[in-house]
Amino acid sequence: MIRFLSACLIISLATTAWSQNLTAKPQKGVAFAKKGTPNIDAKIDGIWKTCPKFLVNQPIAELLEIDSKEMATATVRLLWDDRYLYALWVVKDSKLSADAGDDWAQDSVELFLDQLQDKSTSYDTDDAQYRVNYEGIISGQGTGYDEADIKAATAKNKKGYVVEMAIRAHAADMKAGTIMGIEFQVNDEHDRAQRDAIAKWFHLKDDSWQDTSTFGTLKLK
Ligand code: BGC
Repeated sequence: MIRFLSACLIISLATTAWSQNLTAKPQKGVAFAKKGTPNIDAKIDGIWKTCPKFLVNQPIAELLEIDSKEMATATVRLLWDDRYLYALWVVKDSKLSADAGDDWAQDSVELFLDQLQDKSTSYDTDDAQYRVNYEGIISGQGTGYDEADIKAATAKNKKGYVVEMAIRAHAADMKAGTIMGIEFQVNDEHDRAQRDAIAKWFHLKDDSWQDTSTFGTLKLK
C-alpha cells in the first residue's frame, strides 16, 4: 500500500513539473518567459517558482583568472507582461565586491537584449545591455539603452545575492509568440579590484556587449 501511494505521489509530482515546463528538456540557447507580473522587490514571489530556470554557469575560458569551481554563477527565470520583461537572478557568489572601477568588473549581472531579433553585428535602437551590481546599482550600454527603461531590486543572502529586474520593452511587440535575442552574463570580482571571471548562458565569448548576432533566443509563451 505504502509503495503504491509513493508511486502515485512520484507520478503526480512528475506530471505537475512536466505540465509547468520545469523539467522539459532544455534546448541550448533557447529561453522561455511565461506571462506574469512580479513585484520588483528582490523577494521570490510564488509565480517565479512556476518558471523554468536557465543556467548562467559557463566560463569564458580565456578570461578566467580563478578556479572555475569558485566562479560566480546564476540561475535566471523570466516573466513578461504588456510592457516589461522580468528577470529573477539567483547568484551564487562567495565574495561580494564592487571595488573595481569599471561597472562591468564589479560583482554584477548583465542581460543583453535584441528586441527585434535582427541579429545585427553592432547595437541598433532595439538593442541594449542592462547591468545591475549586487548592491542594486544600475548601468548599461548600447544604442537602445535608456536608464529609464530598467528598474531593479537586489538582496544579499548566505550564498550570494538575488537580482530582480524589470526591463521596459520599447521595440518588441509584447504578445505570446514574440521572439527576441537574449544573452545572460555574471561578472565576478573575486578578491582583487578587477574582474576574475565571467559566466555566460550561451555564447562563450566576451563580445555580447557589441554584437547581437550570436545571442540565444527568447520566446514569450
Ligand atoms: C563586457 C566587457 C565590456 C562591457 C561594456 C561587458 O559585458 O564583459 O568586456 O567592456 O560589457 O559594456
